[in-house]
Amino acid sequence: MRFLIMNGPNLNLLGTRAPEIYGSKTYADLCAYIRQRADSLGVYVDFYQSNHEGDLIDRIHSAMGIYDGIVFNAGAYTHYSYALHDAIESVPVPVAEVHISNVDAREDFRKISVIRPSCAFTISGKGFDSYTEALARFVSEMKG
Ligand code: DQA
Repeated sequence: MRFLIMNGPNLNLLGTRAPEIYGSKTYADLCAYIRQRADSLGVYVDFYQSNHEGDLIDRIHSAMGIYDGIVFNAGAYTHYSYALHDAIESVPVPVAEVHISNVDAREDFRKISVIRPSCAFTISGKGFDSYTEALARFVSEMKG
């Protein structure tokens, strides 16, 4: 099984951006943590991060036929990008919505996710484990 771990805007700044919310570990630390879990699950992972909506959309489109699922932290695009909602809906690849922080316990605008209806499930507020739990859930669901 092959999964794409995709991160949207500002997640490249993990470690320095609001560490009281997102922690002091970097984006590289995040990737290493997920890779370790992927190895223990026996699945293959690729990583992609972009600060640009169109690049994220292109990457979702090109996931067709390559990946069994996408674990996606869309950052602030979560809250207003109907284009990402439509991209997710337009491909047969299941997408898990993940967030490091608990978006339901923060500002009102973060409580709205416009991508959620097109996603298979959401995991929020578990730090880096939001990603690894999403990966493990995909694997257990797909292995049946
Ligand atoms: C985030 C939450 C979003 O509201 C925010 O814009 C982010 C990160 C999270 O992982 O907690 O960039 O998706």
